[in-house]
Amino acid sequence: MHTHAVILAAGKGSRMKSKNPNISKVSYEILRVPLVRYVVDAVKPLIDGKLITVVGHGGEVSKQIVENDSLVVWQHEQLGTGHAVEQAAPILKGVEGTTLIINGDTPLFTTRTLERLLKEHKEKGHDLTVLSAVLDNPTGYGRIIRNEDGFVKEIVEHADASEAQRRVQEVNTGVMVYSNKFLFEGLEQLDTNNVQGELYLTDLIKLFKSKGLVVGASIMDNPIEMSGINDRVQLADAAKEMQRAINRKHMLAGVTIEDPTQTYIGPYVEIEPDTIIAPGTSILGVCKIGSDNYIGPNTYLENTNIGSKNNIISSYLTDTNVGDNNELGPYLKTRANTNIGNNCRVGNFVELKNATLHNGVKSAHLTYIGDSEIGEQTNIGAGTITANYDGKNKYKTKVGKNAFIGSGTILIAPIEVKDGAFTAAGSTITDDVEEDELAIARSEQINKPGLAKKYRKK
Ligand code: UD1
Ligand code: CA
Repeated sequence: MHTHAVILAAGKGSRMKSKNPNISKVSYEILRVPLVRYVVDAVKPLIDGKLITVVGHGGEVSKQIVENDSLVVWQHEQLGTGHAVEQAAPILKGVEGTTLIINGDTPLFTTRTLERLLKEHKEKGHDLTVLSAVLDNPTGYGRIIRNEDGFVKEIVEHADASEAQRRVQEVNTGVMVYSNKFLFEGLEQLDTNNVQGELYLTDLIKLFKSKGLVVGASIMDNPIEMSGINDRVQLADAAKEMQRAINRKHMLAGVTIEDPTQTYIGPYVEIEPDTIIAPGTSILGVCKIGSDNYIGPNTYLENTNIGSKNNIISSYLTDTNVGDNNELGPYLKTRANTNIGNNCRVGNFVELKNATLHNGVKSAHLTYIGDSEIGEQTNIGAGTITANYDGKNKYKTKVGKNAFIGSGTILIAPIEVKDGAFTAAGSTITDDVEEDELAIARSEQINKPGLAKKYRKK
């Protein structure tokens, strides 16, 4: 018996008030990760059958986000949650197994919560289990209506509820587990006799009960997880919650985060113990960070790997690999496949693009190094620029090991300065410099005695 899942992600998200008609609600991001991605990630470990996402509004965008991990079906008109699930019928109708249904706009659900629900559903032999929550303010949600004996009778949507029903604080979280065969049989029997004129998935409860099937509701312990995103205030609230949960996980695993409210770590970041993260720091995308680093304040790392024992201060590193024992920043910017070895000193005000710096390189001030490889122990003087671009093409600069590039050198690529070579300060280097040579390429200085004084008198 397989476990399947259907993620509902076709809704429009009008309350996000975007001017872009092609965007889908589930593509809004928390910590640079789309909402529906969090749902896919929470669900995926539990599924050994089909994982299906229903897309509609902005569906092309949603499809791209999920298609590596999920099948995609289209709901071209949004006729309700029941209708949305029906779009998966070509894949799931008549199939044995258990199906989890979850909304694509609830990014805080954890695998653990969903796993527990599935377990309970199977152990108790239910045909349908609803995950419910008790809320202080249940406004807007479908209410769980129970019989006097405590068994679930039906779910009544807020719009359809009486005054008395609206006082019920137990609500439908939108997560339900079904016996798959009964689910798709039941969907065919739904009608649109309700205030919104939609096919409500929640009406299946009444239907299942009338057929004598077993329906249960399981109350979740941490109702924060069910928070759905309908507007940008809820987006920010959920982002705070996600930030809190992720930071807490790292802190409990041995990472020091000096101010967790001012630190933004994405869900695909790994950090080893004893690294310290100072405020104003974001670590996003896929990053692996070693131990004993001091990162921040005000540092941005994206798709970047960091070894151990580095100091990285007020810097911006993307698509970069950093080894161990480096002093980086303040104000280092790196991008586009940059590699920094071990024991380097880079920054302040240095930009690296598609550059490889081998062990022990020093580039301490005001420099641009692009499309370059710099050998071990080489010193790059202040104000060095690689002129790598002629307006059309990019060219490579290669500097060997133990070289010394004097301050203010312009290296006009393509160019190679070989091992042990020197360039004199202020040189514009256009020809390769051979091993152990000293290149001076600047106009000779002429001093005119007394001329300064004469000018001043004018
Ligand atoms: C739904 C539930 C409600 C529950 C609440 C929890 C129904 C009828 N109501 O209400 O009991 O308390 O979720 O958040 O199921 N969607 C589609 N196609 C559609 C309609 C919706 O894909 O035709 C998707 C939306 O993108 C969204 C999800 O289904 O991800 C829920 O839809 P929404 O309209 O937000 O339902 P609610 O009114 O919030
Ligand atoms: Ca909703």
